[in-house]
Amino acid sequence: MAKILTGIQSTGTPHLGNILGAIIPAIEMANSSSEESYLFIANMHSLTQIKDVKVLNENTFSTAAAWLAFGLDPKKTCFFRQSDVPEVTELAWYLSCFFPYQRLKLAHSFKDKADNLKDINSGLFSYPMLMSADILIYDANIVPVGKDQLQHLEMTRDVASRFNNLMGDTFIIPEAKIQENSKYVIGTDGEKMSKSKSNIIDIFLDDKALRKQIMKIQTQSLSIEESKDPEKCNVFKLFKLIASKEETRKLHSRYTKGGVGYGEAKEKLYNETLTRFSSNRQLFFELTNNRDKVEGLLLEGASKARKQAQNVLKRVRTRVGF
Ligand code: TRP
Repeated sequence: MAKILTGIQSTGTPHLGNILGAIIPAIEMANSSSEESYLFIANMHSLTQIKDVKVLNENTFSTAAAWLAFGLDPKKTCFFRQSDVPEVTELAWYLSCFFPYQRLKLAHSFKDKADNLKDINSGLFSYPMLMSADILIYDANIVPVGKDQLQHLEMTRDVASRFNNLMGDTFIIPEAKIQENSKYVIGTDGEKMSKSKSNIIDIFLDDKALRKQIMKIQTQSLSIEESKDPEKCNVFKLFKLIASKEETRKLHSRYTKGGVGYGEAKEKLYNETLTRFSSNRQLFFELTNNRDKVEGLLLEGASKARKQAQNVLKRVRTRVGF
């Protein structure tokens, strides 16, 4: 049976873009597949950029709660927190000793970060080795990732082969699986939704705050009577992603005919958002009031993951003579 593994880095509560683009498709895939799956929150990777303990832990919690609220089944998917399997850092060290510095220097992700961040620590530089360890320590076969992670996957395959060639067969060489179904979700300003652009819609806010975010969506300034091109309207574009086909068709025709104002369209989007995500929101709020439950699930996942990790690490330690 193939093992599918992926890690998620969290910069806060997952927003609508993360949910429609990544979380829902990944959960559908995991729940409909008979393969063994692993999903973890890469909080040790997040430490390269976030040093505020409260923020770091809050991000981990809200990410875990969001995945659970969208139906991730921890019985089917081994769901855990990276830092609860400390074996991974030991493996990252061994891997570092088998990977050329000159190759690590070519990582695009490091160059991008080094150009944009103030804190250029060496954790950012060796990030791909920890990521390789994340994958190799569970004997993963398939790693679903976004395009931006492909180079890291190449490095993982490379370091695994180098180790295997020098020390004898030890690691499974994993394959990347590009996530194609990831939807392009616009934010309140019409650009791609992203926390760094402050244009997000956070469906886990309370009603009032959520409504406020939706009312912020930028629109043209056409009068109620005027006919509007739905495909050029940010409110409609989001509505289409959330509402049923029938509701979308109705609003589409009202836009083209004229007679619907942006205020009303936003109100409709707000109501559709509440309806569509009602059970997910409820579950998220319940988990927020029962953090021990999330903690318990993550620890249970970690204990399963750790057994696996210890097996692989033992293999590696034998290879290097420790
Ligand atoms: N680097 C990945 C990202 O930013 C997160 C990640 C960490 C990961 N370890 C992983 C993804 C292992 C897949 C496999 O999205």
